Amino acid sequence: MMERLSVGFVGTGNVGIAGAFACLCLQVPSEMVLVDLNEKRSRAEALDLMHGQGLTGRIKIVSGDYSELADSQVIVISAGAAQKPGETRLDLLQKNALIFKSIADELDRYAPNAILVVATNPVDVMTYILQELSDRPNGLIMGTGTMLDTSRFRSLLGDFYHVDPQSVHGYILGEHGDSEFPAWSTVTIGGKRIVDNTVLKRPWNPEAMQDLFVNVRDAAYEIIEGKGYTNWAIGVVIATLVHRIVDDRRSILPVSVRLNGDYGLSDVCLSVPSLVSIKGLRHIVEASLPDREMEALHHSASVLKKSMEGLDLSTVSGDS
Ligand SMILES: NC(=O)c1ccc[n+]([C@@H]2O[C@H](COP(=O)([O-])OP(=O)(O)OC[C@H]3O[C@@H](n4cnc5c(N)ncnc54)[C@H](O)[C@@H]3O)[C@@H](O)[C@H]2O)c1
Repeated sequence: MMERLSVGFVGTGNVGIAGAFACLCLQVPSEMVLVDLNEKRSRAEALDLMHGQGLTGRIKIVSGDYSELADSQVIVISAGAAQKPGETRLDLLQKNALIFKSIADELDRYAPNAILVVATNPVDVMTYILQELSDRPNGLIMGTGTMLDTSRFRSLLGDFYHVDPQSVHGYILGEHGDSEFPAWSTVTIGGKRIVDNTVLKRPWNPEAMQDLFVNVRDAAYEIIEGKGYTNWAIGVVIATLVHRIVDDRRSILPVSVRLNGDYGLSDVCLSVPSLVSIKGLRHIVEASLPDREMEALHHSASVLKKSMEGLDLSTVSGDS
């Protein structure tokens, strides 16, 4: 008998539910379990999603408490508190660390072997925090990282070069945030690097490419100004990542992972090309980055480490 593929969602706000909806449309799992502090909301979302099954095909969709996640192979976490006026970034981080502590305890109790995918922002820091708080190996915990930014990047490059974005290869690497950078050396179309080359009749245009990257980096600000949050593209990212994992594709994706000496960096989570499988993170690929991009990666790592200064995990983990 085929094993049931169950995917859990902790946090069924705008992001979690967009991920669940994309999973439903892509028919990724055979079961989805929705868990949220707001149980009424997660139950309503489960019912609402279920009613599409007459057209999409059957997927069991339930809401419930953490014990319902016992059979989930992958669990997506987008739970978190939003920043309140007057609250500092560090206050918010400390508050979200406390939320993640209760989530880590519940998931370690009910689903100790599941792969955890973090989407909550700041995603690199929250991935690091969850790795610190959970008992499972770090390789079973990854963040969506710059998958979203990379998808935006490929979409805009596809537009610029009038080509299918899926025929554009390359990555945004580093932090999912202001210090991220375009790894131009990795960007190819039809096997040809776009840097310093004419591709599809378009010569390399540094100014246009810088503008394009700024649009990628700052896209969330514009979207949030217009609708208050971002969710559809991250929903597609979540469903794609979950699909690649449960399908054991061994895809190489820019997810947020803990570096242990890779790229000369350690004790930080950020996005570099990483091979993921049904067993979680399998390999970190050390891309041959030129000095300028290597410096950008190191800068991103130092920005992330600085953002965690002052964060006290002993107060949330009860180790103090
Ligand atoms: N990684 C990315 O690329 C990316 C993109 C967009 C948004 N985000 C982030 O995703 C997160 C969620 O955004 P959103 O728009 O869905 O927010 P939201 O406020 O709509 O949803 C958050 C949900 O978390 C729930 N929650 C809070 N504490 C909980 C707990 N202890 N246990 C279970 N559930 C709990 C809330 O009830 C709420 O439903 C934010 O941190 C946001 O910045 C990340």
